[in-house]
Amino acid sequence: MTTVLGAPGQAERSLGGVRSRELAATYGTPLLVIDTMVLDANLTRFADLGSKHDIDVTYAGKALLLIALAERIGRTPLGLDVCSLGELTIAERAGVPANRIAFHGCGKTDEELQAALDGRVGRIVVDNREELDRLISLANAEHTLSILLRMNVGIEAHTHDYVRTGGEGSKFGFAPDALEATIAAILAAPGLQFVGFHSHIGSQIFEAESFCANVRELLGLVARARALGCEVGEVIAGGGFGVGAHPNDQPLDLESTIAAMQQALTQEAQRLRVPVPQLGIEPGRAIIADAGTSLYRVVAVKRIGSRRYAIVDGGLADNPRPLLYDAYHHPELAAREDGTLSTAPLIDTTLCGRSCENDEFVTAPLPEDLRAGDLLAIYTTGAYTYSMASNYNRFPRPAVVFAGNGRHRLVARRETLEDLLRVDVPD
Ligand code: LLP
Repeated sequence: MTTVLGAPGQAERSLGGVRSRELAATYGTPLLVIDTMVLDANLTRFADLGSKHDIDVTYAGKALLLIALAERIGRTPLGLDVCSLGELTIAERAGVPANRIAFHGCGKTDEELQAALDGRVGRIVVDNREELDRLISLANAEHTLSILLRMNVGIEAHTHDYVRTGGEGSKFGFAPDALEATIAAILAAPGLQFVGFHSHIGSQIFEAESFCANVRELLGLVARARALGCEVGEVIAGGGFGVGAHPNDQPLDLESTIAAMQQALTQEAQRLRVPVPQLGIEPGRAIIADAGTSLYRVVAVKRIGSRRYAIVDGGLADNPRPLLYDAYHHPELAAREDGTLSTAPLIDTTLCGRSCENDEFVTAPLPEDLRAGDLLAIYTTGAYTYSMASNYNRFPRPAVVFAGNGRHRLVARRETLEDLLRVDVPD
């Protein structure tokens, strides 16, 4: 489902069947464009894989959550993960039924715990003992909240590798040795139903075996709970399905990965002689990343020594991923202002944002005659860009649009200077 990339610089790029110049002229830049044809194909793919392999699929809203997107998720069979009252409120405004929403996060406030107890979500994934104790103190026999325990199973996954870390490499979840005492505390508490275990081992994982190892670890926990007389109906193996960022990247084979996870589940359940629990997954990036493309206007092109720099009208504030994770986002000349095409040879160009940081996006081949006013497309920016955007340098957040079948519409308007000032309290 990756974005189709043509020969760089040869023709005006369209997104969702809409010419990039039309999008930039209508909404301005920087602009996040979500191709709804790609998004819907990704949603359908996960829904189909879920039903084919009997796996519950929940979209991890932290990747990107807007009311219009949550509405679209609501029209699929997928669930929705939220990890703050902000995300929960978006889900509610979009009309997603509470029983399809799960509450995540590793430092939930009392207000968030109360929201879960009040029935605003179907289930909560508890991260630590303090959170559990606060939840227990807020709960009473009138409540019927389903609880999963986030477990730190000691697998830390990297892109093409996974290592067992004994759990020390990550802050998330309960250490496995806390399992018995934690389950006993839940079983003794009124208003809480223990339903299962959760483990998310990382993001951008391309190795199916990492996901399978996680499933097997979860089954080991199921067996330990069973020894305490506690039947576990569900295990959720998190998200993390890798998405290629460079046109030459080998995509993760989702179908075989998900089939392998289901097979690991049944085989391990058989080996440990426990009933096969329901398996769940929580993809975020794999649903939204390749549906998103950012459009930027080039504001300056300059040479410093042997390097050529192009500065665009966005950067760190709307996409911190290159600086934070060294993430790659593929750039292309999308269009020139006058509609002409560039046939110039491509030369290495370092794309930078306009913030007061060395916010280099990427160094990649771009037309030698690149100039101010040119429109650049930066691909695979649907996940963890807008949702991680800031107002650094007091830049307003960009607009977000849906584009598909040649039509487009605004789903988040660009912030204004008034938006930026609305929280300031003068002396
Ligand atoms: N479930 C849980 C509990 C998670 O913490 C996450 C992501 C997901 C599911 C979804 O993972 P995905 O399928 O999107 O990989 N900001 C980073 C990624 C951080 C992921 C945080 N948790 C980035 O831009 O690459």
